Amino acid sequence: MMCGIVGYTGPRGMETILLVGLERLSYRGYDSSGIATIYNGELSTWKKPGKIRELEATLKNFTIKGHVGIGHTRWATHGEPNELNAHPHLGNEGKVAAVHNGIIENYTHIKQKLSEKGHIFRSVSDSEVIPHLIETYLNGSLESAVEKTVKELEGSFAIAVISESDPDKIVVYRKGSPLIIGVGKGENFISSDVNALMPHTKEVIYLDDDEMAIISKENVIIKKSGNIVQKKVNHISWDAAQAEKSGYDHYMLKEIHEQATVSRQIIAKSISKQNKVGFKHVESSMTYLEKVNRFIIQACGTSWHSGLVGKYWLEQYARIPTEVDISSEFRYRHMISRENEIIIALSQSGETADTLACIREAKSKFFNVLSFVNSKGSTMDRESDGVIYTHSGPEIGVASTKNYIAQLISLYLFTIFIGRLKGTLSEEKADKMIQSVKKIPEYIDSILGNTDAIKTIADKYYLSREFVFIGRGVNYPTALEGALKLKEISYIHATGYPAGELKHGPIALIDAKLPVVCIAPQSDTYNKMIANIEEVKARKGKTIIIATEGDTQIQSLADDIIYIPSFCHDLTPILSVIPLQLFAYYIAIKLDCDVDQPRNLAKSVTVE
Ligand code: AGP
Repeated sequence: MMCGIVGYTGPRGMETILLVGLERLSYRGYDSSGIATIYNGELSTWKKPGKIRELEATLKNFTIKGHVGIGHTRWATHGEPNELNAHPHLGNEGKVAAVHNGIIENYTHIKQKLSEKGHIFRSVSDSEVIPHLIETYLNGSLESAVEKTVKELEGSFAIAVISESDPDKIVVYRKGSPLIIGVGKGENFISSDVNALMPHTKEVIYLDDDEMAIISKENVIIKKSGNIVQKKVNHISWDAAQAEKSGYDHYMLKEIHEQATVSRQIIAKSISKQNKVGFKHVESSMTYLEKVNRFIIQACGTSWHSGLVGKYWLEQYARIPTEVDISSEFRYRHMISRENEIIIALSQSGETADTLACIREAKSKFFNVLSFVNSKGSTMDRESDGVIYTHSGPEIGVASTKNYIAQLISLYLFTIFIGRLKGTLSEEKADKMIQSVKKIPEYIDSILGNTDAIKTIADKYYLSREFVFIGRGVNYPTALEGALKLKEISYIHATGYPAGELKHGPIALIDAKLPVVCIAPQSDTYNKMIANIEEVKARKGKTIIIATEGDTQIQSLADDIIYIPSFCHDLTPILSVIPLQLFAYYIAIKLDCDVDQPRNLAKSVTVE
């Protein structure tokens, strides 16, 4: 299961806390949802397939009583999205309710064993075995029943449990999937991420793996292997308003329009008044950064794309050999740990299971790990040797936009930092690169001032059933990212290729029906791009070209053209991706797709 968990214990009404919390988590998974509460010692549950609003509609004329409750919004891994498979799941006697995020790998064995004892299972979900197993141990406290249960579970899980036997408590356990406690006054909260806690408290406790918490409205006890552990209460810096839509139709559009502000924030935090690049949380990593002779970047999806761009920069300016791999592939390569190599993980959520698994595997092989994360307090933040925050603020839209820009700027600044540290980048060149970075916000603003032209082009092509994106060098990853944005929110098939690869097969796709998006700003491979675009035109392909302002030569090859400001070629991936984000957004809107919560997806992929 990959989804969102909320819980509350305190004097306030359940629906305002649990339903609002689920709504704020719905970007994590949204194919069904449910809540459970205990009132006068009796457990009640409500579950509905579909979006949270289906559950809200069911409860509209209903006041949920009770002062202990849990809730869940689901992204299905086992079993289709329906009421039976929705969480919370109940034990055999209906006295225990549990919600789960993760995967129980040995659930069939447990289900078989309990079925032989007469347990009746209502769903095909792996999660349902949890409350059933807890009930079998419920002769003591709920806490001890959970403790015994998790010992039998294999896989990754964050669970929250309530029971008629302990009607004032929520017991939670974390093993591989995030779980956070919100500390209130006379009330306490739990959530899969801070976004659901924001309206109520900024004081949070991040549970670590194999930690259990016993939560009542008055206190929180945290245990590990049966012993009480003291945990730091963290204060969250950003506020709930930042996670709202602020008047935009969708989070994605808001986040696209935040990109200039985000770039200003990163510049302000990473470039000193003396024009030096610095990162607060890498001091502990300095010794190995000074000696590094190879980077291995590993990430997923959009974060992998920013890693591909980072490779070009790190090799060109810091002169450090850099590999880039997709996390789900990297973790099954037979990593060869060589001295002075550093694994870089890139992740917005800091919870992506495949990327996190690579970090753990790398650390077991004594690699040093430096992570670029956006979510402070995330598992990757806490398990990496060094961390660079990408400071893009809460990114709610499932399609990553502002954090992609944030990753790119952070990687470019890191390139300057490491190049200066290693002495492979002259101060003069570094100063020039920093000056270019400082121009990014104004250039982003100018692109965002011209969205109508992009919308017009999107309206022209929205019925096309497939697209090809091509780019070269640092804009080859831009082609991949543009294709990913389009396919994940409009469900139109799109593929990105290195432009030079067209003639090795993909050119067979080109015909008068196929739009080809060509990322062709001025660069040292511009003439090669022109040749590739001519190959497309020769086969009657439609060309939508991203070009540098003032480039009239390329106009004759374009069916449609979108200009970006003339800029140093290295940084064009930061500018050229913005029209592609908007292109995807406007096509998806035209097709009436659910832009912020595309089908089958979730914001944070916390399952492998
Ligand atoms: C990007 O638009 C997608 N939502 C997805 O590819 C995402 O980038 C990927 O799942 C990695 O997420 P992370 O950055 O949180 O690790």
